[in-house]
Amino acid sequence: MQKIIAANWKMYKTRQEARETAAAVAAALSGQPSPHEVIVFAPFTAIADVAAAFAGSQALTGAQDVWPAVEGAFTGEISPRMLQDAGAAWVLTGHSERRHVLDESDELVGRKTAFALEQGLKAMLCIGETLEEREAGRLEAVLQRQLETGLPVGDGPLEGRFAVAYEPVWAIGTGKVAGPGEVLEAHAAVRRLLCGRLGDSGHRIPILYGGSVKPANAGTLIGLDNVDGLLIGGASLDAQSFVQIIRA
Ligand code: 13P
Repeated sequence: MQKIIAANWKMYKTRQEARETAAAVAAALSGQPSPHEVIVFAPFTAIADVAAAFAGSQALTGAQDVWPAVEGAFTGEISPRMLQDAGAAWVLTGHSERRHVLDESDELVGRKTAFALEQGLKAMLCIGETLEEREAGRLEAVLQRQLETGLPVGDGPLEGRFAVAYEPVWAIGTGKVAGPGEVLEAHAAVRRLLCGRLGDSGHRIPILYGGSVKPANAGTLIGLDNVDGLLIGGASLDAQSFVQIIRA
């Protein structure tokens, strides 16, 4: 399975800054193509700029959220068609900051994921436990709940258009990366849950790791069993550091 190296720029970068970073990533990839799929999840205002900078390059553009309706009276929200019109191929759903800062429920995350897929976007469902949940021995139960409510069923095969990002909440933006044992344990659990739900095709759904990934630890993380990619926040804001991770 092709690995995925993805950047989540969160609420950073003006359009100009986004264009410059994306152009630098595209230039690096044109000199030396990557064997991995490369995606940048840009803020809404910069999606079209990033997609334009990536035109003709192997990198793809994604959005960080979506509302599960075609159109309508949903002030402040954005539809799959609007994202596609701006140039997004992928969307993140259920990112930890949306769940914990913006109080998004498992149920809403599930509706967003299913609707995005139905409308032709590729979806990357983010899951992960808090420190409190991990310390209470509830890792697998939390992952199971988030996967079961977030995983779309009955909308055709998911291979090639769906991925899971495991991001332990306690490792996001904290500099505290999960150790190899913790990553192996969680990714094996996600793989088991995916196969339990989807049968054999669960083996072909990419599982990305996210949480304080840096150029220095990317090589080790990407080499672990069941780690099919990386989702990078802080270290993806700088083109050089993101490209270093792509090459790790
Ligand atoms: P950091 O890489 O900054 O820890 O962020 C991880 C993340 O949330 C990516 O979606």
